[in-house]
Amino acid sequence: MGHSAAVWDYKAATEITKDWNGIDKVVLRNPGGASARVSLHGGQVTSWRNEQGEELLFTSSKAIFKPPKAVRGGIPICFPQFGYCGSLEQHGFARNKIWTIDENPPPLSPSDSHGKSFIDLLLKPSEEDLKCWPHSFEFRLRVSLAADGSLMLISRVRNVNGKPFSFSFAYHTYLSVSDISEVRIEGLETLDYLDNICQKERFTEQGDAITFEAEVDRVYLSTPNVVAVLDHERKRTYVIRKEGLPDVVVWNPWEKKSKSLVDFGDDEYKQMLCVDGAAIEKPVTLKPGEEWTGRQELSVVPSTFCSEHLDLQSNGF
Ligand code: BG6
Repeated sequence: MGHSAAVWDYKAATEITKDWNGIDKVVLRNPGGASARVSLHGGQVTSWRNEQGEELLFTSSKAIFKPPKAVRGGIPICFPQFGYCGSLEQHGFARNKIWTIDENPPPLSPSDSHGKSFIDLLLKPSEEDLKCWPHSFEFRLRVSLAADGSLMLISRVRNVNGKPFSFSFAYHTYLSVSDISEVRIEGLETLDYLDNICQKERFTEQGDAITFEAEVDRVYLSTPNVVAVLDHERKRTYVIRKEGLPDVVVWNPWEKKSKSLVDFGDDEYKQMLCVDGAAIEKPVTLKPGEEWTGRQELSVVPSTFCSEHLDLQSNGF
C-alpha cells in the first residue's frame, strides 16, 4: 500500500547501508513504494523500481560486484571521458572510484528537493587520478526519486583548478526491455550520428524511429531534450528528459559482441538497451571557477500515452 505524499518523511526514506564489499549504498523510497539504489562505488545507480516493485534498469546476471570495475548495468557515470576519445581508460575513471556522501552541497533549486527522496554524492580526484588527468575538479551528483516514481540525476562539475579543462560525459543508462526486437526509440529520427562501429563516421538517421536488428553503437548529435523508448511487449515507454546533454548514445552489443564481454550473458542483449544523455561531440570546457550542470530524468508511462501526449520537441523540463 502506498503512503500519502503529504505526510511522507523524505529524509527517513533515504537509508544508507553497506554492500557485501563494505561499500555504502543508499536506498531511496517514495510514498507509492517505488525505490532506487545508488552505490558509492562509481556513484552508480544500480536499481530503479516502480510502485509494483518491477526493476526498470538492466543489470547483467554475470555482473561482477567487485571494485574497481564498474558493475555491468544500472547507470554508470562516464567521466571525464566517454569511450576511447582521449588518453584515459574507456569511459574515464569516475565509474571506478569510491565517491563520498556530500553532507553540505551547494544548494540546488527548491524544486530539485521538494517532495523528493535524494542523496548528494561527491567525487574529487585522488593523487593517482591527477597523474593521468591533471585537473582538479569537484563532481557533485544528486540522485533523487520523486513522488511519481521518476528518477532524476543532476551532475555538477566544478573547475577548482588554475587552468581551463575539457571533458566528455555520459549517463550510461542500461534500460531493461522485454525483447530488443520489439523496442523503438522516438525523438532521434532524421538526426546525424557518429557510428562507433564505422570508425566514428557521420551518418544521418533515415528511419521513422530507431529499431534493432543488429549491433548498434552510435552517438546521436544535437538531440532534442526529450527522447522516448517504447517497449511494445510490456506496453511501457521510458521517457528520458535531459538538459545540458546535447548528445544521446544508443548501444546494444547484439549477439557477437555480447559473447566477448566477460560480465555479460550471451543472450542478455535481448533484455537491455543503453540510451544515454551525454556530452561527447563537443567536450564541455570549464574555466577556473566555472561549473557545468547536466540533468537526466527517467520516467515511465504506459505506451499508449506516448505518441499522443508526449511533445518530443519540447524543452525537457
Ligand atoms: C557504450 C559504448 O557506451 O559502452 C560501447 O558506446 C561500449 O562502445 C559500451 O562497448 C560498453 O563499455 P564498457 O567499457 O562498459 O564495456
